[in-house]
Amino acid sequence: MKSLSKRMPRLGTENAFSVVGKAKKFEAEVLAPLGKNLIYLQIGEPGFDTPKNINDAAIKAINDNQTHYTQTAGIPVLRNAIATSTSKYTGVDYKGEDVVVTPGAKPIMFYMINALIDEGDEVIIPNPAYPIYGSVTEYLGGKVVPIQLKEENDFNFKIEELESKITDKTKLIIVNSPQNPTGGVYGRELINQIAEVAIKHDLWVLSDEIYNEMVHEGEHYSIASIPGMAERTVILNGCSKTYAMTGYRVGWGLTKNKEMCAALEQLACNDVSCVNAIAQYAALEAVSGPQEEVQKMLTEYKARRDLLVKLVNEVPGMKCHSPKGAFYLMVNVREILNKLNITADVLCDRIMKEANVLILPGTVFGVYGDDFVRFSYVSTREMIEEGMTRISKFISTI
Ligand SMILES: Cc1ncc(COP(=O)(O)O)c(C=O)c1O
Repeated sequence: MKSLSKRMPRLGTENAFSVVGKAKKFEAEVLAPLGKNLIYLQIGEPGFDTPKNINDAAIKAINDNQTHYTQTAGIPVLRNAIATSTSKYTGVDYKGEDVVVTPGAKPIMFYMINALIDEGDEVIIPNPAYPIYGSVTEYLGGKVVPIQLKEENDFNFKIEELESKITDKTKLIIVNSPQNPTGGVYGRELINQIAEVAIKHDLWVLSDEIYNEMVHEGEHYSIASIPGMAERTVILNGCSKTYAMTGYRVGWGLTKNKEMCAALEQLACNDVSCVNAIAQYAALEAVSGPQEEVQKMLTEYKARRDLLVKLVNEVPGMKCHSPKGAFYLMVNVREILNKLNITADVLCDRIMKEANVLILPGTVFGVYGDDFVRFSYVSTREMIEEGMTRISKFISTI
């Protein structure tokens, strides 16, 4: 058999998915026969049902026979609605023609990096970070240049660190705020400084704003809103997190750069033709319909965050700041790792097997995640309490 392409081994993955696969197997084969279960405190998706008005719009779309191909970049009403809602929070005058709708937001990473990066080009990526930015960059022959997000800076970085990484090969900077996995939100000053650097060195920016609504303190400030940036930025966003619609798979990219917008559309045409029509009508209701359900979810996430932060900091050897955004908590466990002389991967495996709680090692998100484990606070308060009782008991025995 002839081998797979040389590119293929360079493609990484989202280990969070494989960890869950292993955990489900462990739960079914080992715990269930003993009448035990796992508590899932690692989940990266909303812990709520999709609001009813959105599901009703999907059902209506089926009954209206909206079951055919659509335009590759999305149905015009949805593209217009996305442009309007993004203009509101950025102040940029986006039009429907600046939007490309994709199956989930993730393809925008693949398309933008694909459209930009040649062999040897450099992409500056925060670390720890969502793993797909780096995976796709390396797959396409680009070079990942990590920039460390430090706990003591509230998982922001100093602009001098960014400047020191720029070479004549640098083409793209990834900005993700609020951030997965740290929950960090970049301050206005840092965003302004990144924009200044991007303009000075003629760089592109991929601004992953999938958690833009999930800011519990402070504000979300889009880099695209700075004069001169909307033309060199692709905003990535979508319905998955804000509207609890991960399974619908609707996301989008927005840019004022016409050449980039056409490239995103062309890549989408080659890849998926268009997004499921029914899901697009559901997304239209999500973006342009009532927003009260979103506010209710946000209020509850904040209460869950406060509870989890309190319980985590009561466990000897676990320390975390209260994150300002998204629904994740990066917890420093260095003291425990040193005491047991193990890695965060091994600690998470032991917590799964001995405490029956699933959390993720920080290393899943990059080398600078090695002092940490990541919790999410999408589960109910009861689950958070039960999970932390189990972890606390386990830690007291080691
Ligand atoms: C930072 C970040 N960007 C993008 C995505 C992908 O979103 P979607 O499910 O819409 O593809 C995720 C999902 O976890 C994420 O955490």
